[in-house]
Amino acid sequence: MKKITKISLGLAILALFVVVLLPGAFAQKKAPESMMLKLEGAKLPPVPFSHPLHTEKAKIGCVECHHKDKNPREPEGCMPCHDLKNVKNGAIPIKDAYHKNCIDCHKESSAKGVKAPTACNDCHKKQ
Ligand code: HEC
Ligand code: HEC
Ligand code: HEC
Ligand code: HEC
Repeated sequence: MKKITKISLGLAILALFVVVLLPGAFAQKKAPESMMLKLEGAKLPPVPFSHPLHTEKAKIGCVECHHKDKNPREPEGCMPCHDLKNVKNGAIPIKDAYHKNCIDCHKESSAKGVKAPTACNDCHKKQ
């Protein structure tokens, strides 16, 4: 191979790395800012959930909630694993998973003086 071809091949590989691979290494699926959580067939009012409040203000890591994703920076929600009604592959039904995840932490946090909702109608708030 001529020297010049070697160099351009080198540059091509470098460019590929910068353009394709590097952004991938730092990519993070952007968390939705505010959402209303509502399960299929829900009877109570939907529950508001803010990512920025939890991840930025309260400084909670993604894995605290997205605990089983192969890549916690690109999570896919809870429903792929937590079923609406049944225990599936050891994963408790989604309502129980939410209640355990959300309420346990809110109780701990409130006990430490940072108030977070623990009563039914504080989360299932009538609009
Ligand atoms: C920290 C917030 C939080 C608190 C407190 C809470 N829940 Fe929930 N609950 C949720 C979330 C999130 C869901 C899933 C989204 C939805 O509401 O459909 C849910 C779902 C449910 C569901 C299934 C959906 C429906 O509406 O039928 C029921 C029933 C329920 N909760 C009852 C309760 C009761 C009763 C209490 C009080 C003892 C309570 N929850 C307290 C967050 C909370
Ligand atoms: C306090 C709990 C909590 C934390 C911390 C958290 N998330 Fe989430 N996230 C949720 C819940 C709940 C949902 C809604 C899940 C669903 O609809 O099944 C969600 C949904 C998402 C979704 C949409 C998934 C989809 O395609 O349905 C993305 C993307 C996401 N979160 C990214 C992140 C990232 C990135 C971080 C960390 C910077 C993070 N989340 C931290 C609870 C959390
Ligand atoms: C890739 C599959 C998967 C995803 C996605 C997932 N879970 Fe789980 N989860 C499981 C399995 C499996 C268990 C059973 C216990 C274990 O293996 O840790 C579990 C257990 C739990 C438990 C009970 C833990 C305990 O101490 O008993 C909670 C709470 C929970 N999940 C909440 C969530 C929430 C909230 C989300 C979405 C933000 C979520 N999970 C997403 C698979 C998943
Ligand atoms: C690991 C801890 C942790 C988990 C898990 C968690 N939260 Fe929170 N949450 C907090 C803290 C801390 C606050 C109070 C933040 C503040 O006011 O500084 C809070 C506040 C809230 C508020 C009140 C927001 C407001 O505007 O007053 C809602 C609603 C809420 N969380 C919903 C949820 C739901 C729904 C889930 C489960 C999907 C959840 N949280 C899971 C720690 C947690």
